[in-house]
Amino acid sequence: MGMRRALYPGSFDPVTNGHIDVIYRAIELFDELIVAIAENDSKTPLFSTEERVESVRKSLRNDIPVQVLILDGLLADFAKKNQINVVIRGLRAVSDFEFEFQMALMNRHLHPQLETVFLTPQEDYTYLSSRLVKEVARLGGDISKFVPPAVATKLKKIYTPCL
Ligand code: PNS
Repeated sequence: MGMRRALYPGSFDPVTNGHIDVIYRAIELFDELIVAIAENDSKTPLFSTEERVESVRKSLRNDIPVQVLILDGLLADFAKKNQINVVIRGLRAVSDFEFEFQMALMNRHLHPQLETVFLTPQEDYTYLSSRLVKEVARLGGDISKFVPPAVATKLKKIYTPCL
C-alpha cells in the first residue's frame, strides 16, 4: 500500500485548539495530512485566507507530516486532483451531525471513492467553535485557553482598540 494521505478541510477562521487536536489525532492514523483552508464560503471570514494559512502553520510543530494549502473550488475536485481519498472532519456533538452527514454524502456523490472519517476531539473542546471564539473575543472575554497563542494575539489586536 502506498502513502496514506488525508485531507482536513475547513474554514479555520480562526484555527482553534480543537482543530489542532484533530490534526494531531489524524497524523497518528495517516502518513500525511493536508490541511485545506477554504478560500471562500458564503460566510465572510474575519481573517484572510493567507492569515488563516499562516496561523495554522505557526500553531503546529514543524516536524510533523502536515501541509497547509488553500482550497478553492470544490473539495471533491481538490481531493481528485491531489489523489486523496480520505476527508477528515471533527465531530463535536450531535448538533454537528446533520450538516456533516449532508456534506459527506454530497462529497461521495461528487467523488465516489472519497471516504469521510469523523474524529472526536478531546472533550474539553466539545463546546468550542471559531464562531464563539470570535464572539467572546469581540466582547472582551479571555479566549487564550481556546486558541493557539498566535491566534490569541491576532484577535486581541483586532478587538482591543489602542493596543
Ligand atoms: O470549518 P467549516 O466551515 O465547517 O468547513 C466547511 C468546508 C470548508 C469543509 C466546506 O464548506 C467545503 O468543503 N467547502 C469547499 C467547497 C465545497 O466543496 N462545497 C461543497 C461541500 S459538500
